[in-house]
Amino acid sequence: MKPLKLSLQGFTGIFAAFGRDSLVLDLQTIPQDAALVALVGPNGAGKSTILDSLHPYRVMPSRSSTLGPGGFSYWTQIHGATAMKELLWENDGIRYRTLLSFKTTGKTQKSDCYLYQWDAGKGDWTPVQLADGTLSDGKSSTYDHLVDAILGPPEKFFTAHFSAQGRKTIASYGAGDIKSILASVLNLQGYRELAAKAGQVGKYLRQQLDGLNSELAEARDHDNTAAVLEREVIEVDGRMRAVEADEVAAHANVNGAREALAGLLAKRDAQANTAEEVRFLNEQIGSVVTKAASSKASVSTQFARDQDRHQAEATSARAAIATAQNSVQSSETEVRRLNAVLADKDAIAQAVARLPEHKCLIEQIDASVDADQATLAGAAALRTELNVLIAQQAKLSSEGQAKTIVIQKLTETAALVEKVPCKGSEMQLSCPLMEQANNAKRDVPAHQAEQSAKRAAYQEIALKVKDLQSKVAGFDKIEAEVRDAQKKRRTAATALDADNRVAARAPLIADAEARLPVLAQSIQEQRQVIAAATDRLTQATNALAAIESEKAQALALIETNALAEQQVLQDRLAKLEKPVSDAEVEAYQSAVSRTGAALVEVQARARSLTEQKVSLIGKLEAARALVARSGQVKEQAERLQEEIAKWKLAEKGLGNDGCVALSIDDSGPEIAAICNSLLSDCFEGRFIVRLDTQSETKTGMMKETFDVKVFDGHRGTEKSLGDMSGGEEILVNECLTRAVALYASQSSTTRCETLFTDETDGALDPEAKRTFMQMKRAVLKQGGYEREFFITHTPELWEMADHKIMVAEL
Ligand SMILES: Nc1ncnc2c1ncn2[C@@H]1O[C@H](COP(=O)(O)OP(=O)(O)OP(=O)(O)O)[C@@H](O)[C@H]1O
Ligand SMILES: [Mg+2]
Repeated sequence: MKPLKLSLQGFTGIFAAFGRDSLVLDLQTIPQDAALVALVGPNGAGKSTILDSLHPYRVMPSRSSTLGPGGFSYWTQIHGATAMKELLWENDGIRYRTLLSFKTTGKTQKSDCYLYQWDAGKGDWTPVQLADGTLSDGKSSTYDHLVDAILGPPEKFFTAHFSAQGRKTIASYGAGDIKSILASVLNLQGYRELAAKAGQVGKYLRQQLDGLNSELAEARDHDNTAAVLEREVIEVDGRMRAVEADEVAAHANVNGAREALAGLLAKRDAQANTAEEVRFLNEQIGSVVTKAASSKASVSTQFARDQDRHQAEATSARAAIATAQNSVQSSETEVRRLNAVLADKDAIAQAVARLPEHKCLIEQIDASVDADQATLAGAAALRTELNVLIAQQAKLSSEGQAKTIVIQKLTETAALVEKVPCKGSEMQLSCPLMEQANNAKRDVPAHQAEQSAKRAAYQEIALKVKDLQSKVAGFDKIEAEVRDAQKKRRTAATALDADNRVAARAPLIADAEARLPVLAQSIQEQRQVIAAATDRLTQATNALAAIESEKAQALALIETNALAEQQVLQDRLAKLEKPVSDAEVEAYQSAVSRTGAALVEVQARARSLTEQKVSLIGKLEAARALVARSGQVKEQAERLQEEIAKWKLAEKGLGNDGCVALSIDDSGPEIAAICNSLLSDCFEGRFIVRLDTQSETKTGMMKETFDVKVFDGHRGTEKSLGDMSGGEEILVNECLTRAVALYASQSSTTRCETLFTDETDGALDPEAKRTFMQMKRAVLKQGGYEREFFITHTPELWEMADHKIMVAEL
């Protein structure tokens, strides 16, 4: 496979690295003889995105978790609504065109994957068609099949020819994984496919076996079911026997009840005459009872008339007694009241005698008070006049005192006329003190005259006050006498009222003295009435008691005679046989119905059990038939198990641990020899590898394994590839990978002219890097490859390349 021209559009890696949507890289411009071609650019320049796209497989290996399309999706690598990868490539002299297009519409995603080949005759691209008829139709599965057919499986390509960025080393795979990869690389697919087919046959047979086993399980279930059904049949039989016994008993009960009823009815027929006599005797008893009741009623009527008469006499006597007693009581009450009146006779007489004295005293007091009131007529005016004069007197006194102070001060000021120093000088005319003194001296006589006038007025008022005060004192004395007289009058009036009230009862005395003898006479008469009525009451009560006793004797006699008659009749009844009653007949009839219903119920139970048994026997026979068939099924299952064991053995023999392992074992020394040849070109024989495909367990058994052992000629030691230093491991791993590729290409019909390597030189020292480039050329030479595209960040290695693609400048 040789990439010729790449066009990418809509890829995130291109957009991020170049800031535009598309990229075209024409590899046909690279000089023909350029074997080592370096892709150069800083981190994030888009190198891996380009290298990942320089092959036709539908996978970008540095972004995939698997070596084939299964662990990768282009939808995670594109941005925008559409994307496209177009790659022109050549293989075995035929030119191909890969066209992968992606389109997103709303929520739906659609991709088309086409593979064309150049038809020189037509001068145009035509869809690839394989010899088996597969034609490129846009489907991804068809596309993958076409590329596999032309270039071999992707696992082989990405193991042997393409070292993606961050890919695992061969030594880091587990034994199972490496065998799968080597099987693919060494074209051992045929074995694996046979193993898969054997596995499928085994799987199919196991499905058959599962069917038989479930049939057997079902048969076992039916076996269990039959046992259960047998037990159920036995149980139903037991219950049927119990019900049969119940049925016999129920029949006996019905017959018994019917016979008892028939016997009772026969007895009732035979008792027809006896019943007639019983009816007669019962009528007689009824007639005796009726007659006795009528006699009792007649006796009661006879006595009732006398009873009513005596009862009326007694009632009348009681009423007379009550009336007379009431009269006596009210008379006695009146007598007590009149006696109480007579008890106050003396006090009333005295009160009557005092009345004139009280009236005379009151008249005297009233006359005296009227005279004093006339005398006191002018007292209020006199007192008012006196108060006015006293006020005037007080006012004149205070004005006089104030005037005395004024005169005193003016006199003192006037005295300064003689004392001031400017007296007699001209200065006195302008001296203010002198002026004040002169003014005072001038005013003093006027003030003194006013004061004398006030004193005279005061003297006059004082005389009038004295006169009025002596008159007011006379009035005060008379007023005290009036108050005293009024007090005495109130006392006399109170005594008069009290005596008037007592004296008012004087007429009652005569009335009482007149009525008391009349009342005494009345009381005596009423007591005689009471005594007479009491005699009448006693006679009536005694008569009633005598009648009651006589009546009781008469009734008792009637009762005794009736009972005696009844007893005679009852004795005759008792001697007769007891007749069959309707209630008895009904009870016997209901016993017949009850036992009949019980019989019907038992018969229903018996029928139900019979049906149950029939159904159980049906099921039991069906289950037994199924159990009988299980013998044949068991034989079939055993045969099938043997077959499955054989196919399993074939699957294992042809699989990873069988022929594949043996082929890998066979190829191991050859791969190691090629690898050692490459290592010898690079390190002049320092490292020698050996592939271990089997190892011995602690128990001495051999087990499948895959271990790369490396012998270091300088140090004379051997160790696993995984135990070497990072740089050493890279170099040996690269040689080993290429050795695998070289071995594969010897035994393969498909050849790959190009190798791809993405940054595997990271951990190498400068010297090792040179060796690394040396190894690359040796690989190209030994494998007959035309070219290797490689990515490195080491400028020294770019310079050792035959051609450089400056990615940033694309
Ligand atoms: N699926 C993706 N989603 C988002 N960004 C992506 C995706 N694929 C690639 N890129 C971005 O595209 C740019 C180019 O990536 P790429 O791996 O090609 O760079 P590179 O040149 O190989 O870098 P380095 O030297 O570090 O390996 C980077 O910035 C990367 O982050
Ligand atoms: Mg990269």
